[in-house]
Amino acid sequence: MSAILVTRKLPSSVLAKLSAVADVDLYTGEAAIPAEELRARVAGKDALVCLLTDAVDRGVIDAAPSLKAIANVAVGYNNIDVAYARSRGIVVTNTPDVLTESVADFTWALILAITRRLSEGERLVRRGEWKGWALDLLLGTELRGKQLGLIGVGRIGRAVAARAGAFGMRVAYTSRREIEFAGAEALPLDRLLLTSDVVSLHVPLTPDTRHLIDKRALTRMKRSAYLINTARGPVVDEAALAWALQHHLLAGAALDVYEDEPVVHPDLFGLENVLLVPHLASGTTETRTAMADLAVENVLAVLAGGAPLTPVP
Ligand code: GLV
Repeated sequence: MSAILVTRKLPSSVLAKLSAVADVDLYTGEAAIPAEELRARVAGKDALVCLLTDAVDRGVIDAAPSLKAIANVAVGYNNIDVAYARSRGIVVTNTPDVLTESVADFTWALILAITRRLSEGERLVRRGEWKGWALDLLLGTELRGKQLGLIGVGRIGRAVAARAGAFGMRVAYTSRREIEFAGAEALPLDRLLLTSDVVSLHVPLTPDTRHLIDKRALTRMKRSAYLINTARGPVVDEAALAWALQHHLLAGAALDVYEDEPVVHPDLFGLENVLLVPHLASGTTETRTAMADLAVENVLAVLAGGAPLTPVP
């Protein structure tokens, strides 16, 4: 029987598929498995089902000479040393497609929440400071007729764009590759930053995209613009963002991801015009179950000697 390490509880129906064919070593802690324990428990395993909070580095890979598959329960895979895994003949898989629509919905939830000041309003009500309806209370900004600037138009960026028409927004995008994208305007990054009213990030975290949104990029944005990040925290220089918001160089930011999760740059806490949520974009019961299921199906395929369903590109 194969041996599999699963680093966090998965839905029981999904775990049952693994247990039916393999010995499953399940880490049951509430937080991420400590690095040392990951190295110790992966030894002797044939497959690893892991999360984006697990750093699967050379040390982990070297600790598991019989490993054949690493299945990340996430579409992003910056937590895995993919090149090294490949050099050791290990298949790495992720969970694309199944989370696209839920992340796109959530991106719009953030766009609407930050432009209509939902969390500010909620804080006001909870503090008991609401004095009643007023013509000028917490006025937001409309989306109709404005430009949504997408940085990255893979599956998720495109699904975000597909919803823009419902809010009357035109779409511009910037992409490293020349791509076909009807109904949206291709712009160089600088131009996109200068002209967009909402800038939303949909790139993977790579050495090229780390701090793509730095002080310089933030100073390019309109003072009336909003930044949305549902991609990966380190794509934005968080300290620079806090500085830009403090100096009113942009109107606001909505963040689902952070540079050093679960740590949040302390300067962001004091700002009203920033919405902070805890990495929830794919977080529906349906989608998280589908992600876990796809990761498990990938492991089962590889252990059965077949091709993985969704190997990382
Ligand atoms: C979540 O952030 C994911 O990459 O799936």
